[in-house]
Amino acid sequence: METITDIAAARPARANTARAQAALHQIFARSRTVRRLTVGTLARIELAILGGHKQKPVMQVIRRVRAERESLLSGNEAFMIHSLARTQRAVGGTMAEVGVFQGCSAKLISLGGRPERLHLFDTFEGLPQPDQAERKSMGQGHYAASLEAVQAYLSDQPNLVFHKGLFTGVDTGCEDERFSLVHLDVDLKEGTLACLEFFYPRMLPGGIIVSHDYSYLAGVREAFDEYLAGRPERVVELPTSQAMLIKR
Ligand SMILES: C[S@@+](CC[C@H](N)C(=O)[O-])C[C@H]1O[C@@H](n2cnc3c(N)ncnc32)[C@H](O)[C@@H]1O
Repeated sequence: METITDIAAARPARANTARAQAALHQIFARSRTVRRLTVGTLARIELAILGGHKQKPVMQVIRRVRAERESLLSGNEAFMIHSLARTQRAVGGTMAEVGVFQGCSAKLISLGGRPERLHLFDTFEGLPQPDQAERKSMGQGHYAASLEAVQAYLSDQPNLVFHKGLFTGVDTGCEDERFSLVHLDVDLKEGTLACLEFFYPRMLPGGIIVSHDYSYLAGVREAFDEYLAGRPERVVELPTSQAMLIKR
């Protein structure tokens, strides 16, 4: 059993680990080459492993889309999003994504879910200003991709509705929609919390909110913790960085 002395001794080590993680994330967020060598390589390996036992046509779609544009999704995460979209097709309704970047995850949702409408929210100018704590690992403008480039990439997909600007949960234009699947990938606490507050009450029974980075970025996890404090719902943590919330 850990004693108080053990815990106190572990604290500086944990602080060093957090500092190292933040420094690594800064390098990662700034360098496309580092992302290609790390996430890109991991995605190819994971998709190759999945290819050994999952349905071939499904894997062909995911492998093709994952290779078409840069994405922060690992192979397992890309598979999970596409799989959830296919499942949630039966629930009906609308789907949404906040945090589109170059459009890879949006295309996986569109192809898997074929929703009546897929609302895509992004500043299309990269991350907004992170708060003080998050500034150690991320910066304003990281992951910028233009609206025009993303629209051109997704021009073969039907029923897309693009929303350019900061998602704050106010004047979204989707107040009357009911959602079967929402994918969150905004990296920051404030944005994640605004999304949960807006979308969770608008989810259909059985609807799913899935978020990237739940176990990787402290702000994302804190947003879920804050939103769920005092509520009976709990997140389902996945073996990837993702977690999901199922509407009862
Ligand atoms: C990590 S990227 C998304 C990656 C993408 N889902 C993929 O699979 O490739 C994060 C995106 O979130 C967007 N973003 C972050 N906070 C936002 C907010 N509050 N409103 C709108 N977009 C936001 C950024 O512009 C950026 O494109």
